[in-house]
Amino acid sequence: MISDKVYLDYAASTPVDPKVKEAMLPFFDQFYGNPSSTHIYGQQAEAAVESARETIAQGLNCLPQEVVFTSCGSESDNLALRGAAWAARQVRNADHILISPVEHHAVSHTAQQLADLFGFELEYLPIDEHGVVNPETIKEHLRPSTAIVSVIHANNEIGTINPIAEIGAVCREKGIPFHTDSVQGAAHLPVDVQELNVDLLALGAHKFYGPKGVGALFVRRGTPLYPNQTGGSQESGLRAGTQNVPYIVGMAEAFRLAQEDHEPRQAYVQALRDRIIGRVLEEVPYTQLTGHPAERLPNHTSFAFKAVDGNNLLMLLDVQGFACSSGSACKTGNPEPSDVLTALGLPTEWGLGSLRVTVGKETTPAEVDKFLEVLPALVERNRDLNQ
Ligand SMILES: Cc1ncc(COP(=O)(O)O)c(C=O)c1O
Repeated sequence: MISDKVYLDYAASTPVDPKVKEAMLPFFDQFYGNPSSTHIYGQQAEAAVESARETIAQGLNCLPQEVVFTSCGSESDNLALRGAAWAARQVRNADHILISPVEHHAVSHTAQQLADLFGFELEYLPIDEHGVVNPETIKEHLRPSTAIVSVIHANNEIGTINPIAEIGAVCREKGIPFHTDSVQGAAHLPVDVQELNVDLLALGAHKFYGPKGVGALFVRRGTPLYPNQTGGSQESGLRAGTQNVPYIVGMAEAFRLAQEDHEPRQAYVQALRDRIIGRVLEEVPYTQLTGHPAERLPNHTSFAFKAVDGNNLLMLLDVQGFACSSGSACKTGNPEPSDVLTALGLPTEWGLGSLRVTVGKETTPAEVDKFLEVLPALVERNRDLNQ
């Protein structure tokens, strides 16, 4: 804990909840067996993994056998995309992949690799200015040869929530597998996979006060999927490798708490979010909110400041003790707006000045006020430097 600092980057990661940590501890040195071993040590570890699977399945409203544990959200996305694409090609000769242009790189780079190395045709769905995919447009882009459709549940950079249930209904009608990356969404939104009409859904524990380095993929029964990682028959043969028992236990406890405390957590962060949005738009000239004004994650704010260097602003904020994030990546000294901001059609002079501020259950109103007091002057200073 860095006491004089203010952490406003909960979309990047969250602290492990003390209850989660407590649940994990016995599985490091008391119940340390390999879940695949037949003896009592193995049985204890296996029981813990299966109980965690049931907990996650309850939260997702699916069968425990439909939950595959992985090493992170990225791996879950990789398994969904590559696994479904490979299987669809093998089973029905499908070679078309349809994704939104605002996917996390775990999806977009996997899809690009499938195009570059495996000959799939990659097509991007249209989005509106807030990054929303219109379910109606899916109909026009789906083909009988579509192997997989992937649309992000809630966007990490701009917070926009997509109409996943409606998109899923269109895909289901045509019998095309549908994946959603809910690594951000599941931390804040209900994720009933029956209501969402999804066949595949990716989770990552460290976004909801669980440990880093563990995730899960929901795989609807009957969805053709090939493993990406081969070896042992763990996880129904879909993901070889000895399961990370303590982390899986921690993920399940964190997910259970996220579901149980969903309403109070949401109300708490949403009030802080709205305070930030309101004041920043009011007090910082030449500013726009990026992402959807209403259909957005309850803890998520993201802005574009005209004629500001976002990376520089982040550094100024860091020096003042505020940890935030930006959507622009500095590639070989030549900064470019992120793929997501570019896909929204934001001009470069706005896209380079992006700032993401995400709050969590530990954020206090006093911390938010402290941040709001310093931000306008820092933006102005940055603009001066940029002239
Ligand atoms: C939307 C989204 N998908 C996938 C990931 C990757 O998750 P992980 O860090 O667990 O690999 C992230 C993490 O930032 C994310 O925000």
